[in-house]
Amino acid sequence: MATKPINIGIIGCGHIAGRHVRSYEQIMQRENDLFRVTAVCDKAEESARAFAGQIAQWQGEAPMVHTDVHKMVVHYPIDGVDICTPHYDHHTTGVQCLDAGVNVMIEKPFGVTVKASQLIVEAAKTKKLITACAENVRRGPSQRAAYWAINQKGMIGQPRLFFCQHAMFQKYDEPHEWHWRTDKFMGGGGWIMDSGSHFADTTRYIFGDPQRVYATVRQYEQWPHIRDGKTVYDDREDTWMAILTFANRVDGFWSFSAAAKGQESKTIIYYGSEGCLVDEGDVYQGPVPAAKIIRPGQEPRLLSDIIPEFMAALTAEERGRMFPHGFEDGMTLEIYDFMRAIATDTKPEIDGWEALKSKAVCEAIYESAHCSEALRYDDVVSGFIEGYQREINEYWKI
Ligand SMILES: NC(=O)c1ccc[n+]([C@@H]2O[C@H](COP(=O)([O-])OP(=O)(O)OC[C@H]3O[C@@H](n4cnc5c(N)ncnc54)[C@H](O)[C@@H]3O)[C@@H](O)[C@H]2O)c1
Repeated sequence: MATKPINIGIIGCGHIAGRHVRSYEQIMQRENDLFRVTAVCDKAEESARAFAGQIAQWQGEAPMVHTDVHKMVVHYPIDGVDICTPHYDHHTTGVQCLDAGVNVMIEKPFGVTVKASQLIVEAAKTKKLITACAENVRRGPSQRAAYWAINQKGMIGQPRLFFCQHAMFQKYDEPHEWHWRTDKFMGGGGWIMDSGSHFADTTRYIFGDPQRVYATVRQYEQWPHIRDGKTVYDDREDTWMAILTFANRVDGFWSFSAAAKGQESKTIIYYGSEGCLVDEGDVYQGPVPAAKIIRPGQEPRLLSDIIPEFMAALTAEERGRMFPHGFEDGMTLEIYDFMRAIATDTKPEIDGWEALKSKAVCEAIYESAHCSEALRYDDVVSGFIEGYQREINEYWKI
């Protein structure tokens, strides 16, 4: 695809970057000349060094090791960076790289707030560079097949409503080690925008944009964590209930609780005028291959049996775009999509604007709970409503 290898830098050498590195290795096995990881960067030098060592094993050459993003992107020729830092850092590092003339792919949930996400989108626009979001879930065969089954084959008829809810109790007797995710300013929020960013993206992919959002968000349990020898409490919500009304008139109920004692319950069903899709996964990352399409008077059909039919129906162009080299892992596909966008100077499937809009679904839930009102989704996308996000924006001077 590329005439010369794309120089990639990886920023933030923690948990998810380790998964990305495995995907880079798989891509290189299939397309040796597409890219080189020429630099890795982490504030913790030992993490960056360990990553460089791992990459050298399959790449043949070790990337340079950096601890400072600015030095890495300003002094060395890099075409694209893969930003895998915590949520609060995404806009700072993202804008820094774009200002230095480098395309960026940023892990979900994109910016820590809508305003932070807008900063990234604006910087990319000004510099005429690519911003991609490392959103993996919608790219999987079962999510693509669900889209096809619902929107192209009409297998459940006209989509009408969904219930996506899970209530359970998470024991928290012993304090856990503190993590940036538990801090409102660093994480931006809890599961609604962390794992929930996958739900927001896939739901927008299948049903389009919401129009209106009403939600309650609560914390019933106090979860202790140990930070620098002291006990601190988790800021994150443990329960929410959200009603999403989509522009195409689908109404959806999305809810999770980790504070529901006595009996666990889970229902994930998408209903249409002719039948439904019953999912067996969690409330974040579905639909999974074990999901079933059920229509009155017909045998239920597993999504895993529909996937080969969907694959066979793809044109060569569609197959090459969605599953290049036959890759089916969402992270490998998101990375390939980013590099293809750089090589061909085209838009990645989930660019900054798409990512901002998915992020705004999650923020609309926090915002609605904050003001106890149903909100227009567009008012959250635009940044007009930011009651919940204001203190995060102020804290980071956004
Ligand atoms: N797609 C998925 O399914 C998925 C799963 C897990 C995490 N994530 C996302 O990946 C991102 C990172 O999460 P994680 O779990 O890997 O976190 P992590 O804490 O394990 O790793 C973050 C790393 O970034 C480094 N870092 C922080 N600020 C930096 C800076 N300015 N410059 C250089 N290095 C810096 C830290 O030292 C750390 O090594 C988050 O956005 C998270 O939501 C995505």
